[in-house]
Amino acid sequence: MREQLIRAEQIKPLEWRGGVLRLLDQRVLPLQQAWLECRDAAQTAAAIRDMVVRGAPAIGIAAAYGVALAARQRHAESATGWRAALAEDMQLLAASRPTAVNLFWALERMQQVLDAHAGQDCPLAQLDAAAIAIHEADREANLCMAQLGMEVIRHYCEAPQHLLTHCNAGALATGGFGTALGVIRAAHLAGLVEHVHADETRPWLQGSRLTAWELACDGVPVSVNADSAAAHLLREGDITWVIVGADRITANGDVANKIGTYQLAVLARFHDVRLMVVAPSSTIDMQLASGADIPIEQRSADELLRVAGQPVTTELPAFNPVFDVTPASLVDVIVTERGVVEQPTAEKMRQLMQEGALH
Ligand code: MRU
Repeated sequence: MREQLIRAEQIKPLEWRGGVLRLLDQRVLPLQQAWLECRDAAQTAAAIRDMVVRGAPAIGIAAAYGVALAARQRHAESATGWRAALAEDMQLLAASRPTAVNLFWALERMQQVLDAHAGQDCPLAQLDAAAIAIHEADREANLCMAQLGMEVIRHYCEAPQHLLTHCNAGALATGGFGTALGVIRAAHLAGLVEHVHADETRPWLQGSRLTAWELACDGVPVSVNADSAAAHLLREGDITWVIVGADRITANGDVANKIGTYQLAVLARFHDVRLMVVAPSSTIDMQLASGADIPIEQRSADELLRVAGQPVTTELPAFNPVFDVTPASLVDVIVTERGVVEQPTAEKMRQLMQEGALH
């Protein structure tokens, strides 16, 4: 299975080439495949803020490379003042988006490299290596979660099934071939997938533009539906699993993910459909007791009031939170590279993070 899965790793949202970070511009996919180059922290932070690169793990990886870029630039500018300038750059990266904890987790990892070289010259090679290691570890985590999640699906039913996913938790959102979509890819290879329904995911359309495209490229049977079709689909569509990624999971198992995930979770429970959340341990924030503490990003009203740059209504206020929090009580399974947590609780999350695999 691992070899087959590795063959499925084709789409890459970011590349580190010759000390330059290249990002596949996800705002224009799939109709255009354009690459944008980042050479410093400001360009990287802008690319994260403006959704050139998105998805929790990919944001973290981009930020780590952003630190490596910044260190090179600041050290070239001043062999004595680079540390203070780099600290400002890291703050800029931290301010790019608030909800996905992978961003802060990756910055913390890079800070640890800097701290390990306190009082020494700039550890440029070590920072590059740390960013590459974060990227590679995420790829490995995807492979591991794909297998674990597929086994959970097979445990409940060995027949090909109908699945529903929301937003994009695929190759475009990670260092590998995805979290939720990694599980779906593995399940497809194992003959467990009849059909995948992809919520279009307003307003950025990560579902129709990115998820459906990724799955169609892999030959996975997929169709797009309006977000508001989910209740109807869950009642009529023979769906066995809703499978999503996460931007932050708190110590009690609450899950922040793309806006609309919470309503799917409520609907899934009402219709006796299971909810699986797939996320690497870099998405787990044991510092926050519950989802009530997660900062929820609010984006511009324009994202709702305009379509393809054209106004669709008069100037009005708009409410545009781009994530929501699903309480742990509505989550059936959390799949991480460390193991699987069924019916998450604070105690099970503690065990997962401190003692490793639960099963
Ligand atoms: O606003 P986005 O596109 O960055 O939101 C992405 C999501 O909500 C994903 O589901 C989440 O980051 C998991 S990606 C593996």
